[in-house]
Amino acid sequence: MLVLGIDLGTSGARAIVLDADDGQVLARASSPVALHHPVAGASEQNPNDWWIAACSAIGTAIADAGCSKGDIKAVGLTGQMHGCTLVDANNAPIRPAILWNDQRSIEQCANLLSIRADAHWRTVCGKPPMAGLTLPSLCWVRDNEPEVFQRATGLLLPKDYLRMCLTGDRATDVGDASGTMLLDLASRQWSTDLLDALDLPHHLLPPVHESHAVTGTVTAEAAMATGLAAGTRVVAGSGDQQTGAIACGITTPGSVSLNLGTSGVLFGATNVPSDTPRKGLHAFCHGVPETWHVMGVMLSAGGALRWWRDITGASYDELTAEAASVEPGAEGVLFRPYLSGERTPHEDASLSAAFNGVRLHHGREHLTRAVFEGIAFGLRDGFELVTGGESPNTLRFTGGASSHAFWRQLIADVMVCPVATVNIDDGSAFGAALLGAVGAGCFTDVHDACKTLVNEASQTTPTSDRHLDAMARWCAASAV
Ligand code: XUL
Repeated sequence: MLVLGIDLGTSGARAIVLDADDGQVLARASSPVALHHPVAGASEQNPNDWWIAACSAIGTAIADAGCSKGDIKAVGLTGQMHGCTLVDANNAPIRPAILWNDQRSIEQCANLLSIRADAHWRTVCGKPPMAGLTLPSLCWVRDNEPEVFQRATGLLLPKDYLRMCLTGDRATDVGDASGTMLLDLASRQWSTDLLDALDLPHHLLPPVHESHAVTGTVTAEAAMATGLAAGTRVVAGSGDQQTGAIACGITTPGSVSLNLGTSGVLFGATNVPSDTPRKGLHAFCHGVPETWHVMGVMLSAGGALRWWRDITGASYDELTAEAASVEPGAEGVLFRPYLSGERTPHEDASLSAAFNGVRLHHGREHLTRAVFEGIAFGLRDGFELVTGGESPNTLRFTGGASSHAFWRQLIADVMVCPVATVNIDDGSAFGAALLGAVGAGCFTDVHDACKTLVNEASQTTPTSDRHLDAMARWCAASAV
């Protein structure tokens, strides 16, 4: 059975055609979307650009797969989380969408904390209000653009805007909804208590579904625009973090993954909604029924290495060789990687980065090694929070960095945990396609889909504890 997975990322839309019978990806296509920063701290995209990019990616993927459109039996959606998309009574966007990395709503977060205490938000929603999450952004619109807020009849997450274009329906899934700050994690339903306390109209929010549930079918108009057949089922899907974890086989409580790209995300599946809230650890619903997850997000992970690459003008390969030429501990040089504030573990948007312990005899290679290690040590903070100190048998490692042996060994050594990669390269889009396949009846459930198609591809065992000293010094120097 063929299914289509669509991932609406911050840089563009991606579509893959998956043969769910053998796990082969027959075609992949992507189309970029412009990102706008109209004023300091703003990060916005035009929802119409999302739709144009999605149509292009879907059309190309179907054509490249060489299948006829009726062969695609279901569509699964995923994408960037937390975005605030407001639509009017005709389903037209009223203003550009405010994205997850928009930093304008700091004041609104303080206001939300005066309406409900920090502990209340963490227990009900799994996290405290943070700038860039949907609710603070919505409150920013209400405070700063009241006429826009008045015209809004619907609040949608980014991938759910695509759903509306595809099926005509407004709907969302539990995982993405739990990133808004308006979902009650325990009941997996919108919190009427919070909506009332914030004086928000209930009708703004779409119905919430489990991720594999079919929410609608492709309309004749959307069929013309995309190349899909009218009547094709569209399942709820989930946020990019949940579908990325599904593509890594993280569906059962206790399993943990690390996705190391620009950001570094530690993800642990749980069987409870929001255990004991710990600072820097954020809870969500998983795209698997009766399952939740905790997550630690380090904003400056691979992005910090990219910053260092841009500053030095060296390639990633050169930097990796340089880092490998220095002993663990970088001869005393430490790097605190928080270039744009940090969510985990500090929850502090004002943090900055720093080198520490640099002396005259150090060369660039020591600083380079310190950058790699500083990222890994920062991720170790998230690993400890996500696992509660109980190391899993294996940490599943995915994202761009996971294809490099040096990173795999460094992560295994620093986490003191075996690290495994999987046979899936398509991350979130693959997870979305799997949810589509479950919705179309190809598998009994998400566990079955993962057991059938997701396998370990490599194992790296920890070989040394030589980072422990440096890590202790790093922790002391990075305490805030
Ligand atoms: C998750 C998060 C990002 C976005 C963008 O909490 O902020 O991963 O989903 O991809």
